[in-house]
Amino acid sequence: MKVLIVGSGGREHTLAWACKQSPLVEELFVAPGNAGIGDLAQCIPLKVNDVEGLCQFAKKQAIDLTIVGPELPLMAGIVNRFQAEGLLVFGPREEAAIIEGSKAFAKELMQKYQIPTARYATFTKLADALTYIEDHPLPLVIKADGLAAGKGVVICQTREEGAVTLQEMLEEERFGNAGKQVVIEEFLDGEEFSLMSFVHGEQVVPMPLAQDHKRIFDGDEGPNTGGMGAYSPVPHIPQAVYDRAVEQIVKPAAQALVTEGRPFTGVLYAGCIWTADGPKVIEFNARFGDPETQVILPRLASDFVQVALATAKGELSSMEITWKEEAALCVVIASQGYPGSYPTGVPIQGLSEAAEQEDVLVFHAGTALDPATGETLTAGGRVLGVTALGSGMKAAQDRAYEGLKPIQFKGMQYRKDIGWRAIR
Ligand code: AMP
Ligand code: GLY
Repeated sequence: MKVLIVGSGGREHTLAWACKQSPLVEELFVAPGNAGIGDLAQCIPLKVNDVEGLCQFAKKQAIDLTIVGPELPLMAGIVNRFQAEGLLVFGPREEAAIIEGSKAFAKELMQKYQIPTARYATFTKLADALTYIEDHPLPLVIKADGLAAGKGVVICQTREEGAVTLQEMLEEERFGNAGKQVVIEEFLDGEEFSLMSFVHGEQVVPMPLAQDHKRIFDGDEGPNTGGMGAYSPVPHIPQAVYDRAVEQIVKPAAQALVTEGRPFTGVLYAGCIWTADGPKVIEFNARFGDPETQVILPRLASDFVQVALATAKGELSSMEITWKEEAALCVVIASQGYPGSYPTGVPIQGLSEAAEQEDVLVFHAGTALDPATGETLTAGGRVLGVTALGSGMKAAQDRAYEGLKPIQFKGMQYRKDIGWRAIR
């Protein structure tokens, strides 16, 4: 088979690594890829939102399966376009991807189908939003409606902070179009977990749980990021809560999308929180999580390409998907200043030394090759993810932190406590 992966981050490096394990794959292309992906696959210099360019490439190369990593091309209708050409794609059509693309849509869907989530209201006018928060209990949870790279959610401890945030989103357009509508919702308290499932219409095959660490600093403090690390399984979430989340959240959501004439194909990601009233939805994503993928796919015992094919073709019910017992933990290494502004083009040392270690996988997130010297340089906020497998979470954690030691670049930052909730 010829397989094309769309994307350039740690998730896509992991997808490429998983495809590479499959004997089904003869040729692997990644658009646009990164320096690490270039070691496994042929990188094609096409942007993820260049739907037409990607489609023409897939046709010309007679690609047998395309796997879409990020949300942007999904919301730009890449699956619709590929399907119109008869190309097989792993990912939801635009009308289903909107479950991630619009928080207001997702909230309405959940309300209509009684899928447990925080109470909420949506606003486009600043004055109305300001009135609403006057007597809303604190903290306030304010969310930009559209895609904001994981940074569109602000938890405000005071009403003053809330007013500033609303002003920034609705008037100053800090999140561009994504923030022209906001969702203000009830603050939920509890343990969070990421529940991803392979979905085709009503067919739902849930994966093991993962948890990511969204905050930049140790102890889950500081501003939200795209994700500073992840681990799987999540031992402190009981099986009964997992089962309830599958039955009350994932299956009803897949069913609801079918009923609404928006059947979903691909990975449906439920970001959940285990509250005193049971599991509730914080957000839906229409794709693999990043960095959750970096700990989930290394635990997959089945052939990933077979699973992706079964998902894309709607043959999930005839497929048995198996997982390894081992735990996996991923530490993200970020650039200085991230999630604010950061430098790029900083040379990275020690990558091959790190990658050679047993049970250690180095996934590139934001890297590029220096065309002149062939050196690997930083090219993003999140630069690398170092994943390790171990017989338990502590073993995986020790291995990941030991494994990243050879890696050095100026200003690099990473959290020292990934997995702490599972180990304490
Ligand atoms: P999201 O981008 O929607 O996943 O939100 C980012 C983070 O904000 C989540 O991982 C939670 O930690 C937090 N968050 C979002 N919504 C709520 C809520 N209703 N209550 C408490 N925390 C929330
Ligand atoms: N890790 C959260 C996300 O992928 O959106």
